[in-house]
Amino acid sequence: MEAFAELVAEGTVGIVGASNHWIWRVERARRLATAAGLPGYEVLQYHHSYLRMRTDMPSLRSVDGNLGVVSGDHLSYLRETPDLALVAYSPLLGGAYVRSDKPLDPEHDHPGTPARLAALREVAADTGATLNQVVLAWLIGAEVPVIPLVGASSVAQLNESLAAVDLELTVEQRTKLDAAT
Ligand SMILES: NC(=O)c1ccc[n+]([C@@H]2O[C@H](COP(=O)([O-])OP(=O)(O)OC[C@H]3O[C@@H](n4cnc5c(N)ncnc54)[C@H](OP(=O)(O)O)[C@@H]3O)[C@@H](O)[C@H]2O)c1
Repeated sequence: MEAFAELVAEGTVGIVGASNHWIWRVERARRLATAAGLPGYEVLQYHHSYLRMRTDMPSLRSVDGNLGVVSGDHLSYLRETPDLALVAYSPLLGGAYVRSDKPLDPEHDHPGTPARLAALREVAADTGATLNQVVLAWLIGAEVPVIPLVGASSVAQLNESLAAVDLELTVEQRTKLDAAT
């Protein structure tokens, strides 16, 4: 945190953030920074989307599980820490919501996935929006707000994602999406 503080002080870095850390490490770093009068993490970057991923399987980054995926730990921590922002990477699952050439990761192989996909299709039909747009609107308008970090390889993809900013889900639509587990 001292090294980051030096970069902030010299103007090289504006906001300090962390990605793919166990949440206890984020909390520890923030406490150390506060105690030392240094700037702490203000933004986190993790994978987060509408479909939930299993986080209990050993991963590249840790034998204890997948520390790069938002879980209840992250959401409850963010709820209690409003000065901390969440940026969600790969919110469109690389295109897997809409493309058969992009299969879901094995971590999506659990009973919640078909239930959530069904709810997503219903809300998309209801709104006239695409599945990707409903996913992005669900993230942006969540009780714990999320900044989706979308990828695009064409202007059409980018425009489709940008239009999600104007899609406001009704309370009923959001309840339907949240209730599917
Ligand atoms: N911190 C980390 O560990 C971490 C990890 C992963 C990513 N990231 C960051 O997050 C950014 C976004 O990640 P991501 O690219 O995985 O995000 P994403 O938004 O889940 O996936 C983007 C890809 O989805 C496909 N896509 C997008 N819109 C589409 C549409 N309307 N219809 C069909 N397919 C569509 C495209 O694939 P095609 O290009 O195949 O068409 C596009 O490249 C990356 O640039 C990276 O900087 C960070």
